[in-house]
Amino acid sequence: MSNNDFNTKPSSAELAKMSNEELARLGTELDDVTIAYRKERFPIEGDPAEKRAALGVGIWLALAVVLGLAFIAVYLFWPWHYRGHGQEGMWLYTFHNPMLGVTLGGSILCLGVGAVKYTKRFIPEEISVQRRHDGPSEEVDQKTIVALLNDSWETSTLGRRKAIKGLLGTGAVLAGIGLILPFGGMIKNPWKPRHELDITGDGTLWTTGWTLVEKGEKVYLGRDTGAIAEEGHHGYTTRGVSRLVRMRPEDLSAGAMETVFPLPEADVNDGGEYDPQKDVYEAHMHSIHGSRNAVMLIRLRSQDAARATLRQGQEDFHYGDYFAYSKICTHIGCPTSLYEAQTNRILCPCHQSQFDALHYGKPVFGPAARALPELPIDVDEDGFLVAEGNFIEPVGPAFWERKS
Ligand code: FES
Repeated sequence: MSNNDFNTKPSSAELAKMSNEELARLGTELDDVTIAYRKERFPIEGDPAEKRAALGVGIWLALAVVLGLAFIAVYLFWPWHYRGHGQEGMWLYTFHNPMLGVTLGGSILCLGVGAVKYTKRFIPEEISVQRRHDGPSEEVDQKTIVALLNDSWETSTLGRRKAIKGLLGTGAVLAGIGLILPFGGMIKNPWKPRHELDITGDGTLWTTGWTLVEKGEKVYLGRDTGAIAEEGHHGYTTRGVSRLVRMRPEDLSAGAMETVFPLPEADVNDGGEYDPQKDVYEAHMHSIHGSRNAVMLIRLRSQDAARATLRQGQEDFHYGDYFAYSKICTHIGCPTSLYEAQTNRILCPCHQSQFDALHYGKPVFGPAARALPELPIDVDEDGFLVAEGNFIEPVGPAFWERKS
């Protein structure tokens, strides 16, 4: 077929008779592309330089594979649980994230270098000039582009380079896995029961520090004193420092609100049970930092409490004028820190959701759609405020099993 033949569009029958090479050439001509210069990298088969080039590319791709596998190994097996200063395994823990970054970044980098090197060493050197034109693709264009892609595949010689093809494919798969794998950490079973209940772990959506009540443990409503461990005569110590203390109803005046945290009986160190040698500081701090633990204890004015609407099934959750609501906003989890005694409204400062303390904490304004979970409370035989049970629904942002 001569160049002049390209000036007229070939018929379907002519197209069917054309070889791949002819179609590829036809494609470039129809696209107004002129190949000004084209040179095979290794025209002579078995050229030792070609073998060296293949080895160079192979090393980079093999490195990408090794680093990709190393990333998966680090992700699965490297110790990632938090270790503080002085704890065994702190250094290994510290290097968890850097190792993830180095292995995944290294794998992608090596894959990229290998791909670029391959292109430079094996794809034919070519200078093409194309003039732009408008209009939709016609049948002939569609056929010829396929032919061009076929031509690229053949001239790239990738088809016969099994080792490089395998390494390239494996490296790409591993890099893809490397991008997807981190999402695995987000998969959690919210219904999974926690066997070792404590107030420190990450738990599930159903678990808070108050869950201990379900195990038969007495849990007080702990007031945060703000006490901090200080340097004393005998050096830095947290012995005898009580961050959380028990509360009595009379500690809160009418119309007031206070944030309280779960204080298990075993961690009490105040009043008549104070022991200067007992060290409960860390347990108290864990309780304060527990993401679902904070509760607003509100003492309504008696005349307001008398007209409070109690939610069905929660009629006995309050103690007299005292109501305890989760402090975690049901919108997206900010602390609902503001209580206005005049209107009995609880305000979340993040997006201005408002909840009615006289109406079992139901939302009355803003984006939150669910009521604040209420904690059942009571007073024990010694006159301290205690949790009488756990929340009966998950705490915090919208969750599909919430009832309100
Ligand atoms: S988090 Fe409370 S209103 Fe948005």
